[in-house]
Amino acid sequence: MPTKKIVLAYSGGLDTSVAIPWLRERYTADVIALTLDVGQERDLSAVRQKALKSGAAKAMVVDAKQEFAQEFVWPALQAGAIYEGVYPLATALARPLIARHQVRVALAEGAYAVAHGCTGKGNDQVRFDVSTIALAPQLEVIAPARLWGMSRDEEKEYARARGIPVPESAGRTYSVDENLWGRSIEGEDLEDPWGEPPEAAFAWTRPVDKTPEKPIYLEIEFRNGVPIALNGEEMEGVALVLHLNRVAGECGVGRVDHVENRLVGIKSREVYEAPAATVLHAAHRALETLTLSKEQVRLKDLLAQQYADLVYNGLWFTALREDLNAFVQSTQRFVSGAVRVRLHRGACVVAGRKSPHALYQMALATYGAGDQFDHRAAEGFIKVYGLPVRTQTQVQLGPKTK
Ligand code: ARG
Repeated sequence: MPTKKIVLAYSGGLDTSVAIPWLRERYTADVIALTLDVGQERDLSAVRQKALKSGAAKAMVVDAKQEFAQEFVWPALQAGAIYEGVYPLATALARPLIARHQVRVALAEGAYAVAHGCTGKGNDQVRFDVSTIALAPQLEVIAPARLWGMSRDEEKEYARARGIPVPESAGRTYSVDENLWGRSIEGEDLEDPWGEPPEAAFAWTRPVDKTPEKPIYLEIEFRNGVPIALNGEEMEGVALVLHLNRVAGECGVGRVDHVENRLVGIKSREVYEAPAATVLHAAHRALETLTLSKEQVRLKDLLAQQYADLVYNGLWFTALREDLNAFVQSTQRFVSGAVRVRLHRGACVVAGRKSPHALYQMALATYGAGDQFDHRAAEGFIKVYGLPVRTQTQVQLGPKTK
């Protein structure tokens, strides 16, 4: 009988490392460890070695940074997708991509199942499972951490007994997920929503009192809602985001502290660092205020919430996502131009915006010389616009004297 194969989404952390021998022993299967480079700051060749050391039959690292930016991050940016008004969805956006790669490998290698390290309390299990259902419903999904019922200490014991290196960190060990669109931090002392996140939770952003005294100005150029240049220099998307993470992070921009509504009904305290996402969302929105009609912006705002919920809730590979995306893409036809932002002391403020497609017309807006607005026409407009108010006052409400 040929060996059964399972493709595990492998991060190099304790959970997925323990999952390797656990899957092997319980399912008598070969475990193929798959790690995606989505811009996390980790030595991925060491991660690959650790997978093999933990007992994987094969370990692969795939550079998916560009794919992540093009197919997941930009559409979310264009949509203005920010969950509950604060979370730019870094973790949520990478899950369907990882699932897609797992499915590809599973089909190529003849595996019968995919596996991931998520617990039964989070959103990520839903994102992995539902993405796999959408892409390859014939595959089984195994979530060892949902099944094994081990405590953190038992996991460490299990790992040690199998020669898997266990990090003996003295202090707090937060649960951290990273990719180029942001860093998600949970657990330990962050679980008390009254307690302020300690500096130890942050890695990409400086505390405000350690930021530069002088503001930094950046000019970001967009084409069809996608950033293409920084300070006049064309840049490839991934490099642009990584650069922005550094520059804005140094100014303390992009920290988020949020009590969040998970899909599984739990409220949880989540801390995020998303410097580039914060800057790009602010800049992108500023450009839209200049280039979209009032009604386009209004509808887009409504759909942005729906879009964010859908991403958060693991429904990336659905018809609804495609339909929303089609609308969003159409709105981006004229979202080209430049935005100038000022980064200072933890804040990102839009300082200026310009576009060859701007609907803002100086000749109409100005109070100075060159005003071309027909002031007299306003009289007729108000006569008609105010007509229902006049009627209702006469018939029902009477004139209001105070
Ligand atoms: N709350 C975020 C989400 O559901 C992040 C989850 C993963 N975070 C982590 N630290 N492992 O998208």
